[in-house]
Amino acid sequence: MSFSALIPASTKAVIFDAYGTLFDVHSAVVRHMAAVGPDAARFSEVWRAKQLEYSWVLSLAGRYEPFWTLTEKALDYAFARFPQIDSSVRPLLLEAYRSLDAYPEVRETLTALRGQGLKTGILSNGDPGMLNAAVESAALADDLDVILSVDAAQVFKTSPRTYELVLQALSVATNEVVFVSSNRWDIAGAAAIGFTPVWVNRLGLPDEYVELAPNAVISSLRELV
Ligand code: LAC
Repeated sequence: MSFSALIPASTKAVIFDAYGTLFDVHSAVVRHMAAVGPDAARFSEVWRAKQLEYSWVLSLAGRYEPFWTLTEKALDYAFARFPQIDSSVRPLLLEAYRSLDAYPEVRETLTALRGQGLKTGILSNGDPGMLNAAVESAALADDLDVILSVDAAQVFKTSPRTYELVLQALSVATNEVVFVSSNRWDIAGAAAIGFTPVWVNRLGLPDEYVELAPNAVISSLRELV
């Protein structure tokens, strides 16, 4: 079976980041747009940015809390930044975050990759509870060989210890893993450990971390197959 030009012949597994890559993190706020109001887009950006910032600050400080806790704390910060938004929508937003929309091409891409004899999986900052809820709600469980959470390493990406979870779980070497993420910082972490990183840049964002570059840049996961 020959792979797409983006996937080296040595590849045994294609591993995906979850939030932003398979699941649309802004779909929670979009679902409750009417209640959140006109600042919805900025509110959702602050929620996401703070969630990530907390993961990096804790990791650098040698501390760890589950990503769900960080997601809740980041949402509370977003409410504090936008006091005009009625916080009674908080439980609805958190519920929506556990069942985010998967991007439309996710299922067919995973199915096609497995049809080529490749293993597929998730490596995410999400804790096991939130990842399982998201996978179940998007009906993706049958298309994934492994769902790996950094919780097993008690540190967040981009610590090398998180990417190493893939090597242990699938008994593969770094050069046998293609790692796909929409998060450019996550691509940098994957490049640093020696994976073949593919950046899905749906929004056409500018490049960064140039010393830790992706092997390819795509605008839809469909380009993987
Ligand atoms: C993930 C987030 C951080 O690891 O995108 O799924």
